[in-house]
Amino acid sequence: MSRIFSGIQPSGELHVGNYLGAVRNWVSLQGEYEAFFCVVNYHAITLPYAAADLRLRTREMAIGLLAAGVDPDRCTLFVQSQVPEHAELAWIFNTLTPLGELERQTQFKEKSARQEQVMAGLLNYPVLQAADILLYLADLVPVGEDQIQHLELSRVIARNWNSRFSPDEPFFPEPKPRLTPTRRLVGLDGKGKMSKSIGNTIGIMESPDEIWGKLRTAITDPARKTKNDPGEPDDCPVIYPLHRAFSPPETVKLVEENCRGAKWGCVECKRVLHENMMAELAPVRERAAELDANDAKVTQILDAGAEKARAVSSRTIAEVKERMGLPLAR
Ligand code: AMP
Ligand code: TRP
Repeated sequence: MSRIFSGIQPSGELHVGNYLGAVRNWVSLQGEYEAFFCVVNYHAITLPYAAADLRLRTREMAIGLLAAGVDPDRCTLFVQSQVPEHAELAWIFNTLTPLGELERQTQFKEKSARQEQVMAGLLNYPVLQAADILLYLADLVPVGEDQIQHLELSRVIARNWNSRFSPDEPFFPEPKPRLTPTRRLVGLDGKGKMSKSIGNTIGIMESPDEIWGKLRTAITDPARKTKNDPGEPDDCPVIYPLHRAFSPPETVKLVEENCRGAKWGCVECKRVLHENMMAELAPVRERAAELDANDAKVTQILDAGAEKARAVSSRTIAEVKERMGLPLAR
């Protein structure tokens, strides 16, 4: 069975963008592959943060993933800092990563532009990401479109290490992205991608009323000035993609007909979407509340996950050190 790996930062809420772009795919792939999913708190500390806050959000993210259907009986869910091999392999990979590759990463350019002082960890962020994936020798990585460039770099790093230390037969696989139909969900403002840092998100744990408030005011096809003006679903940047993700195919067809034929107004269209979204998200919210009240269970799941992850990561790091002439920790 081939392996998949993916990670999510605990720096924001679980929103509909990362749910549809990645997490829903984790849930559907976990039975098909040997799956490792990680709350990447070492990545989250590459930008300024508050320690107490990070602890809380790490826990919340784990709860969100479990509530969304990540099943510890069918995959390994863990917190990155509980598996020290991630940082170890990242250091090793730093010695095999060309500086120029790091400097041209789009996410680095965007994030560093917003910082007064740029720390080395922000630049080296994708090296840690490569270590995350390659520690488990994973070849498939379910992520959204914005991670494609980071995965290209993971392949460069894998290739560089292989050619130096395993020239006859590649030791590390070259990981490839696995995208969903919603590889890049646009935010409620209809401009950039849905992202916590822009503040244009719908959180998957928000109440039905909060979600309705956001859908109601979300931008639609500008051609539909009144409900009698016909529109084009492909010009509706948020609501139509959400219908395609949450509504059954018959409803999506109806949405297309009613929009093109001006047979209903955008508000009616949004009401139907709201109903279909809540059918999927309300149970997630309930499960999260249950887990939230059961702290010991969450701790036990994450501790067990870290132990399962270490069983694999320690073997990889031993092999890597052996081939690189580095004695093992005792
Ligand atoms: P992040 O929240 O940045 O840690 O992202 C977690 C996962 O969600 C990554 O695989 C991202 O590619 C994916 N993701 C984040 N935002 C979006 C979006 N607006 N549309 C699709 N996928 C997304
Ligand atoms: N950089 C990813 C993001 O922002 C998070 C991440 C860290 C990740 N390590 C990973 C994703 C390994 C996939 C595989 O979304």
